[in-house]
Amino acid sequence: MKPQAKVIKLSEPDTDRNRLKKENTLYQGSILLADGEVESPAAAERFRILRAKIERLNLRRENNYHVLAVTSAVAQEGKSVTSVNLARALSIDPAGKTLLIDCDLRRPTVHKFFGLEQEQGLSDAIAGEAGIFDVIKPVTPRLDIITAGTPISDPPQAIERPDIPRFLHLLRSKYRYIVVDCPPALLCSEPIRLSSIVDATLLVVRAWRTEKRLVKDAVEVIGESKILGVVMNDAVDASKPYLDYGYYGYRPRRVDGALDFEFNNDNQDSAPIQQSAANGGAD
Ligand SMILES: Nc1ncnc2c1ncn2[C@@H]1O[C@H](COP(=O)(O)OP(=O)(O)OP(=O)(O)O)[C@@H](O)[C@H]1O
Ligand SMILES: [Mg+2]
Repeated sequence: MKPQAKVIKLSEPDTDRNRLKKENTLYQGSILLADGEVESPAAAERFRILRAKIERLNLRRENNYHVLAVTSAVAQEGKSVTSVNLARALSIDPAGKTLLIDCDLRRPTVHKFFGLEQEQGLSDAIAGEAGIFDVIKPVTPRLDIITAGTPISDPPQAIERPDIPRFLHLLRSKYRYIVVDCPPALLCSEPIRLSSIVDATLLVVRAWRTEKRLVKDAVEVIGESKILGVVMNDAVDASKPYLDYGYYGYRPRRVDGALDFEFNNDNQDSAPIQQSAANGGAD
């Protein structure tokens, strides 16, 4: 069954670092960025909603979205922020642990979110220098990560090797969810390769920045049938300015067939994706 595209808006995190609370988790209203934890109940809520939507899809017997790649059209759209915080959200699932893998061997950042150095990781397992289970690092009791590992000269070739499907096959049985942080789909071949190995791909779009034609191209290269949905990152809902102050009961807006809606007007293909892209009926 072809997955339906959905757009989840992630609010801009509160950047007031004075309000950081060291022990905060996603469930206490903060999200992780590469350089620290940022209190933002609204953004944390969006990740919980994203998790709930994935869980709900998996309730249907015909669906199996447990190994998820996260990519975007171009660089700096929030793939890693989305991968890390989605993995944190998924990790509360009582049915099993979550694993986050940094498959961006070109510009790896997952380790930074957890204050780790570039230690042995995926590239070392691919090179046969370590077993895949030896490079797993627990970051919470329910969330493990595999960092990108020792820098290598040819990341696309490493991802093309048969090791990745073999690793995912081995790891799949140990985890409820596996989130795979990827490089950008229009600049690198890895997401195309990975999209045929994972259960589904999430496409991150940075509001006000990503041009529609680039999103359209990314959908084409990955294949629309492989895209579970679109995550609209960095969007601020101007009509609900109080969201970041922890108001309860916000009903996320939903766009069914958002991709079709966004891509039908060719005249506007060079315009950046706007916040209105996520304006659909209330859930
Ligand atoms: N919603 C957001 N609010 C504020 N800053 C954000 C948001 N999303 C991402 N950023 C910042 O933007 C930068 C890029 O984010 P991130 O590293 O997640 O993007 P990426 O798509 O993984 O980039 P790359 O293509 O280099 O891998 C980071 O500095 C991150 O902290
Ligand atoms: Mg990244």
